[in-house]
Amino acid sequence: MLKFTARDRLRLLGGGAAFLMAGCGGSSGGDDRSAPPPTTVSPPPPPPPPPVSSANELTPGLLKDSFQSDFKVGCALSSYQVENMDLDARLAQSQFSSITPSFQLKADIIAPTEGVFDFTEADRLVDWAVANGMEVRGHTLVWHESTPAYFLEGTRDEIRARLENYVRTVVEHFRGRIFVWDVVNEVVSVDLFRGDAGIGPDRRGIWYEAVGNADYIDWAFHAAREADPNAQLFINDFQTEDPRKRAWLIEILQRLQSRGVPIDGVGHQAHLYLEAQAADVLAAIDDIDNQFMGLINHVTELDIDFYNDPGTCWDTQTNCDPDLGPAPPVDGLAKHAEIFRELMTGLRARSSVTSVTNWGVTDNESWLNRSPIARYNYPLLFDREGEPKPAFWAMVDPEYVIPIE
Ligand code: GLA
Repeated sequence: MLKFTARDRLRLLGGGAAFLMAGCGGSSGGDDRSAPPPTTVSPPPPPPPPPVSSANELTPGLLKDSFQSDFKVGCALSSYQVENMDLDARLAQSQFSSITPSFQLKADIIAPTEGVFDFTEADRLVDWAVANGMEVRGHTLVWHESTPAYFLEGTRDEIRARLENYVRTVVEHFRGRIFVWDVVNEVVSVDLFRGDAGIGPDRRGIWYEAVGNADYIDWAFHAAREADPNAQLFINDFQTEDPRKRAWLIEILQRLQSRGVPIDGVGHQAHLYLEAQAADVLAAIDDIDNQFMGLINHVTELDIDFYNDPGTCWDTQTNCDPDLGPAPPVDGLAKHAEIFRELMTGLRARSSVTSVTNWGVTDNESWLNRSPIARYNYPLLFDREGEPKPAFWAMVDPEYVIPIE
């Protein structure tokens, strides 16, 4: 089989799109063979063919259309990006069917001061998405990292009333525009990764400490359901592909269901590494399917880190892998593409999966260029110039041969 580089395929598809467009133009003008010869004015010359091999020439809708009958394909995006219609926003508009606001829906942005709600940036982004026919994932109502300190002041009852008021106000504000909410984010314990598996399934974070237990999860879900009975309500977390973490997630899901908490789905963040196995993510979907019939699964923050740092790099920014520089290694790009292909093929076969979101569009904008340290990273589907990477072609074209050198 012939081997195509991403650039070759872009040229071919760009040419194909131009050819198709020419075909459409011809048919709308009728059958030229029966048309009378021109009498007075000659028709204008045809426009020059569009330049190819630029991201802007990518066949519109190629990515989202490839998965149209399977699931929404989303990307994280920010309001400043749509305000300037930067490269990411243009690609999002052309290729994705869903967005997740990167931070505009978090509490420290919407309500940094008690009693003041500011939806300006969130509205800008959500309205843009809706106007472009995209779905919006509401991310996220409760997350320890974006909780302003005042949320947790006072008695348990005061904290509850404040949380319920916040959730109701935000969900009501977006009713009819946002149909799925990550009600809670990262509430599963991470203690087992720190050598303490005995502490139980709930994250012992600021919410747990302030409330005295994990009841805040129940309160947030009930308030969200009350505010918009049509919205799907999700619990979202990372490393659900790790069976130990997943066991705790499952314990929490069982508890929520046994208490009648209105939950509709599980968000699997899927922040992966090149050493990751797609099968592990698929096993997480299967576990939810097998144990909780009827729950929906979303992949919510997919990206694939090119570094495999030790824990110390994330904890104290020490012993991190050295910077690979601006050009990604070809073998890394191939692995990246293989994981994307295997994962998408598996997700396609699982009917409970209705949305798959990448945490960004072009590599340049990824959070992984800054975390855990400043360094080039290449986790997404488009490179820094907005060119589709092998992972993109591996997703949309089953015949595509992933370049290995
Ligand atoms: C977590 C959060 C996201 C985002 C990413 C990194 O996974 O859920 O909202 O902040 O970290 O940027």
